[in-house]
Amino acid sequence: MSVPYSKSDKYFDLNIIYGECSGPGGLQLAEFMADKMNLSRGTRLLDIGIERGFQSCFLAKEYGVQVIGIDPDDDRSDGIPHVEHLQRNARNWGVENQVIGLKLGVPETHFSSNTFDFVYSTTTLEMIRGIFGMDLYRQCLAEIYRILRPGGIFGLGEPMHLDVPIPPDLTPIYTKGGGVGPEGWSACFATVDETAAVCHEVGFDVIEAGNAPDAWHWWYEFSRYDPYCKADPNGEAKIIQQDGGRWLTYGYVIAQKPR
Ligand SMILES: C[S@@+](CC[C@H](N)C(=O)[O-])C[C@H]1O[C@@H](n2cnc3c(N)ncnc32)[C@H](O)[C@@H]1O
Repeated sequence: MSVPYSKSDKYFDLNIIYGECSGPGGLQLAEFMADKMNLSRGTRLLDIGIERGFQSCFLAKEYGVQVIGIDPDDDRSDGIPHVEHLQRNARNWGVENQVIGLKLGVPETHFSSNTFDFVYSTTTLEMIRGIFGMDLYRQCLAEIYRILRPGGIFGLGEPMHLDVPIPPDLTPIYTKGGGVGPEGWSACFATVDETAAVCHEVGFDVIEAGNAPDAWHWWYEFSRYDPYCKADPNGEAKIIQQDGGRWLTYGYVIAQKPR
């Protein structure tokens, strides 16, 4: 059987990948999204929520895009700004001429309108919805719409849930308050249809939306390789494995700003 060529398979050390990314999928997710977005060489892409910038560097290296990566925060484990990790990784990947990091976040980016050909954001905006609510989430999407050029493409990847009730054994886990309001972590997760509807509301044409076919594989990998999961196997890792893909998934929306 022939195995299809995969760009992310070149970078196979999952301990390194999950140590530098944060969230399920790592570089496989970045490749999945890039192919769905139809990234083209020499175009300008904004990556929102970069952690240590591994996905930004992968997109620059493998797809030839010019990347601006934004992130307002410092790294949880070493306190170094995420944008500094991005620059370190850009040097290691040999893409320092294609990648710039700026310490800022959505919704107030201060970029001019119609600036980017592509906006990419994975495993970032759902936390804004879960912690700060739907209004701020909508403002983030409206800002992305503003700074994309007409015809530009937005690729949104998020932890989502399947359109089914939370299985009873998981309800207490997902709905207990944990700094994300009375609904607990469930407030971070929406369905694909709900997410696509908000993109449409702020003006986007939704080209494609769905649950990633490899979602459960990515979550399982995350539960085994993410450093915080490894350090606390009875925490998030256990919840993910107990879920087993019954409620949790990983969804995407590919949306275009009308020309
Ligand atoms: C879970 S990580 C995802 C990183 C990467 N996209 C990935 O999938 O591996 C979320 C990132 O979003 C950043 N972030 C938090 N609030 C943000 C905001 N308002 N604007 C942009 N990034 C933000 C965090 O600092 C963190 O680096």
